[in-house]
Amino acid sequence: MLVIERVDLSDTPSFEALYDVYARSLTRDFDGAWLAAEKRVNLTDDEYGAKIALLGRLDGAPVAGGWVVMPLRDNTDFAFLEVVVLPEHRRRGHGSAVLEQLIGISRASGRSTDFAMPVWGVDEEGDAGRWFVEAHGFELDIMDAVRELSLPAQLLPLELDPHYTLETWRGPCPDEWVDEYADLRRILTSEAPSGDAGLEDEYWDAARVRKDEADLVRVGREMQVVVARAGSGELVGHTQLAFPADGIEVYQWDTLVRPEHRGHGLGLALKTRALQASADLLEGRRRITTENAASNAHMIAVNEKLGFRQTAWTGEYVRTL
Ligand SMILES: CC(C)(COP(=O)(O)OP(=O)(O)OC[C@H]1O[C@@H](n2cnc3c(N)ncnc32)[C@H](O)[C@@H]1OP(=O)(O)O)[C@@H](O)C(=O)NCCC(=O)NCCS
Repeated sequence: MLVIERVDLSDTPSFEALYDVYARSLTRDFDGAWLAAEKRVNLTDDEYGAKIALLGRLDGAPVAGGWVVMPLRDNTDFAFLEVVVLPEHRRRGHGSAVLEQLIGISRASGRSTDFAMPVWGVDEEGDAGRWFVEAHGFELDIMDAVRELSLPAQLLPLELDPHYTLETWRGPCPDEWVDEYADLRRILTSEAPSGDAGLEDEYWDAARVRKDEADLVRVGREMQVVVARAGSGELVGHTQLAFPADGIEVYQWDTLVRPEHRGHGLGLALKTRALQASADLLEGRRRITTENAASNAHMIAVNEKLGFRQTAWTGEYVRTL
């Protein structure tokens, strides 16, 4: 019988057992696993989220795992769940056993909506993750499309509307912009296409930007940021390229242009500038992965122009009390 225990994130052997199950459960080429140091930070409680991780053992051997993340400063009705089971131990109810415990924790914490995001290949109708969450009563809210740009890539020339300028940084955001930058981070959910699940903007302020930057340093992840400024000096858009310490993967993270500044080619200009600015970091890496709502036609057109091609789907699934 599967014995499920709570993982103490401060205990290295316990975390490593969970991480091993996680890494060995993600077997598809488009699965971009977090590195161990990143996963450990992501699963450790902080002022923005309560997190609980579980490990399932069979005769002492770790075979299943999962976690629930419950935001504390925003989306306080939501719980974000993930379950993983080693491939050779699937279809024996272990995933269900872990999921039921996670849902129990979510309910006991007063959360009313559970959120899960299975991923499957672009040419498939779904795979284990999708069928698993559907079997547990989760309903599809929206679909996101995952795209990759193979590296090295041919860069487009930078074309920038003369009413705007672009600024770049790595490491800490300059003090003079940190409040405005936090606001750009904050509005992503409301200003990019999202579903009907009722997700609200994440809480972002200068302190959270600084906490995020400190976490990046802890896990050795480099972030190339590009922001667009209007003639008034106001920050009106940004993009982020994340470079994990493995030297292999790159992630195009948030990209956003404020609604009143759309239609000026800033999305493409920001991304092109980010690629130029991070030429040294891109050296030797194999691909850049990005993801956005399948309905986000403008962002997808920009990505296709840059050479990104779709590899997978992510389903945003919800289960409400
Ligand atoms: C999804 C995952 C956790 C399922 O783990 P599992 O231990 O095999 O799940 P269970 O045995 O509890 O399956 C419960 C039900 O889910 C459905 N299901 C699970 N895998 C399925 C598959 N490959 N095909 C069709 N239905 C499937 C079935 O209804 C199954 O019940 P049944 O076996 O009685 O038909 C596992 O496949 C995995 O780790 N996948 C990679 C990570 C992932 O996608 N996680 C899901 C995101 S939360």
